[in-house]
Amino acid sequence: MFTEETTFSAESYFASQPPPPTLQHDVERVREFIKRHNNEGRSVVLVTSGGTTVPLELNVVRFLDNFSAGTRGATSAEYFLKAGYAVIFMHRQFSLQPFSRHYSHSTNPFLDFLEIESPADGSKTPAITVTPSKREDLLEVLSMYKDVHNRGTLHTLTFVTVDDYLWLLRAVSQEMSILGRRAMFYLAAAVSDFFLPRQRMSEHKIQSEKGRLQIEMDQVPKILKPLVDEWTKEGYIVSFKLETDDNLLIPKARAALERYGHQVVIGNDLHRRKYEVVFISRKEKTSESTTTADMNSGDFQEYWLRIAIPDTSGGVSPHKVKEIEEDIVAELGKRHASWISRA
Ligand code: PMT
Repeated sequence: MFTEETTFSAESYFASQPPPPTLQHDVERVREFIKRHNNEGRSVVLVTSGGTTVPLELNVVRFLDNFSAGTRGATSAEYFLKAGYAVIFMHRQFSLQPFSRHYSHSTNPFLDFLEIESPADGSKTPAITVTPSKREDLLEVLSMYKDVHNRGTLHTLTFVTVDDYLWLLRAVSQEMSILGRRAMFYLAAAVSDFFLPRQRMSEHKIQSEKGRLQIEMDQVPKILKPLVDEWTKEGYIVSFKLETDDNLLIPKARAALERYGHQVVIGNDLHRRKYEVVFISRKEKTSESTTTADMNSGDFQEYWLRIAIPDTSGGVSPHKVKEIEEDIVAELGKRHASWISRA
């Protein structure tokens, strides 16, 4: 029963908060995708991406949100596809997506790539062509996009609210359990830690005449626990930890591994996340990463990945800029292969 004092466990959350209306439809489509790739022996990664909203009203006018643009998720999804994975890309509506992300930034607007060519005789419809200097880059992205489309290796799911996210994550992870160790979870989404249960939401737009607004939110249940223990017992689970205080990053990542018992936490600092990340995992008898691995005492090992901060001032094509997600995915691919082989 719902009370004001409820602290939500995953169980009480799903028992009291209604699912999104499209859940059943989404699950049926994702089931087909997983079944097909399972039959073909392909590994499947679920990439979560972007931020979640927390609506304040049932007829929602206002909501809380966060900074995540979905760059990490969309970029990583492309590298997973290149590495041969089938990708379920579960992203916040209107956040960046694989391939189209190259043209979504204000620094690289798509319409600036196109030219209108007036027909010589003045009678026919004008043709649209690609600016010659942009053609090579566009061809590369378009070719990858078409190839993925033809092979059917990318499946997209959309969420907006934290509720949508939680219901979808549970359903998709349960469907992915048939993949056993060939399932990977790459949880790059920035999920709200707080939410407003439906039972306490105002039905209509909150009126401003009442003066100061005070809202007490509940904690979103820690969803990694049932994910690891119940929904996908064999999946390779990679969570992320974002901090703004360097001193907290590694202790909090270690605490998450201890609490949830999954495989890897990737730590990133808000301002350096595009150039530096740290993998935190339990120590193996023999290190999986032999090159620049930085071993520590205790039960955990750290593995830092760094790339040079790219100089974009000299007109370098955005497509030629090194992205840290390429190295993250390469490292995870090796670790996942080793996880599968140890079955
Ligand atoms: O999108 P960008 O702008 O590129 O930014 C990428 C990023 C910084 C958001 C990403 O790299 C990142 O760090 N995401 C996780 C942010 C975070 O600190 O999450 P958390 O501590 O609230 O959660 C820990 C992990 O559990 C995360 O992997 C999260 O996706 C997952 N989680 C959290 C809560 C919840 N209810 N369900 C979850 O699955």
